[in-house]
Amino acid sequence: MLTKEQVLQSLQSLIDPQYGQSITQLNLVKDVMIKEGNVSLTYITTVEEERYKENARKAVTETLKTLGAEQMHIRFRMITDHERQQINEQLQDPSAPKAAQTPKAAPAAPAAPSGSILGPDSKVKFIAVASGKGGVGKSTVTVNLAVALARKGKKVGIIDADIYGFSIPDMMGVEDQPKLEDNTIIPIEKYGVKIISMGFFVQDNAPVIWRGPMLGKMLRNFFSEVSWGELDYMLLDLPPGTGDIALDVHQMLPHSKEIIVTTPHATAAFVAARAGAMAVHTNHEILGIVENMSYYECKSCGSKDYVFGKGGGAKLADELHSELLAQLPLGAPDNHISEADYSPSVYKEQTPTGQLYLEIADKVIRKLES
Ligand SMILES: Nc1ncnc2c1ncn2[C@@H]1O[C@H](COP(=O)(O)OP(=O)(O)OP(=O)(O)O)[C@@H](O)[C@H]1O
Ligand SMILES: [Mg+2]
Repeated sequence: MLTKEQVLQSLQSLIDPQYGQSITQLNLVKDVMIKEGNVSLTYITTVEEERYKENARKAVTETLKTLGAEQMHIRFRMITDHERQQINEQLQDPSAPKAAQTPKAAPAAPAAPSGSILGPDSKVKFIAVASGKGGVGKSTVTVNLAVALARKGKKVGIIDADIYGFSIPDMMGVEDQPKLEDNTIIPIEKYGVKIISMGFFVQDNAPVIWRGPMLGKMLRNFFSEVSWGELDYMLLDLPPGTGDIALDVHQMLPHSKEIIVTTPHATAAFVAARAGAMAVHTNHEILGIVENMSYYECKSCGSKDYVFGKGGGAKLADELHSELLAQLPLGAPDNHISEADYSPSVYKEQTPTGQLYLEIADKVIRKLES
C-alpha cells in the first residue's frame, strides 16, 4: 500500500523555481491523502504562471504513476505571505526544525543545499543563449563566449540544455565521459570550461526520446547532481524556440540573463523577437543581441559581402530595447593545432572572430560585474 511518506519522498526531486529547492523540503506539498490507489494533494506554487502549473501537474502525475498511484487529484494554490515567511526563516536557519510534513525517512541532503548553484546563496551568473529559429548559431555562440570568458580568467560552466539536440560535446571535441564521485557527476573540462550535456549520457548518439516531465527532471539534475565547484558564469545553450525546455529554464532560473542570437535577415530577427518577448515576459534581462553570419569577408580584398541581408540584429536590439553586442562573420574555425586539440567550433584566440568573442566577453563582464 502506498504511504504518505512514499508520496512525499518521490516528489522530493521536484524543485521549486523560485527558491531552487525541493518542493517537499520547502513544505509546498500539503494535505496528502491516499485512498485505495487514489492520491490527492495540495501543491503550493510560488509563481503565478499557468504553464508552470501545467508542467508541475505533469511532473507530479508521472512521478506518482511510477509509484503505482491510479488516480491523482492535485489542487494548486498560491503561496501565502505567512508560508513565505516560514520558508525564509527555514532558509536563514537551516538547523531550525523542518516543516511538519517532511518525511522522516527522506535522505538528509536537500535537493538544492546551500552551496548548490541554484541555492539562495549562489553567486553564479546565469546566461541563457536563446533564439527563435534553429541553426542560427546559439551553440556556437555559447561555446565561444564561454571559452572567451575563461580566457579572461573567469570560472565558467556550460549546461547543454538542448536535451534532444545536444551538440556541445561534439562542437568542443570532447570524447571523455564524466566520472561519478560520491554520487555526484564531475563535469568535463575543456579550455577551462566545465561542460555537462545529455550527449555524455546516451550511447552512440541514440536519440533521446523522453517525454516532457523527464526532460525537466534531467535539466534539474544538471544543476543539482553535478559538482560544479566554484563558478562565476554558467552559460545555458537552449534549444531553438520557446518550447518546454526554454520555459523550464526560465522558471528554474528566475534571475538568469539572456543573449539572443539571430542572423541578419529581417524575418530571422522577427522570429527571434518571440524568444525575446518570452525573456521579457519572464523578467529575464536581455544582455544583448548577437548577430551571427552577418557578412562574408573576402580574404584577399577585405571587402564585406552581406550575403544574408543586413540590419536584422540592430532592428531586434531596437525592438527589445537592448544592445547589439556583436556582428560575427561567416566562416567556421579552421585552426586546429593538432588532433589532440580538435574542437570543430572553437575559434582560436588570435583569429579575428576569436577577438570578437573576447569583446563580447568584455561587454558581458562589464554589464554584470560593475
Ligand atoms: N559564423 C558562422 N560561420 C559559419 N558557420 C557557422 C557560423 N556560426 C555557426 N555556424 C555553423 O552553423 C551550424 C549551426 O550552428 P549552431 O549549431 O551553433 O546553431 P544552433 O542555433 O545552436 O542550432 P540548433 O538550433 O540546431 O541548436 C553549425 O554547423 C555551425 O558550425
Ligand atoms: Mg544548438
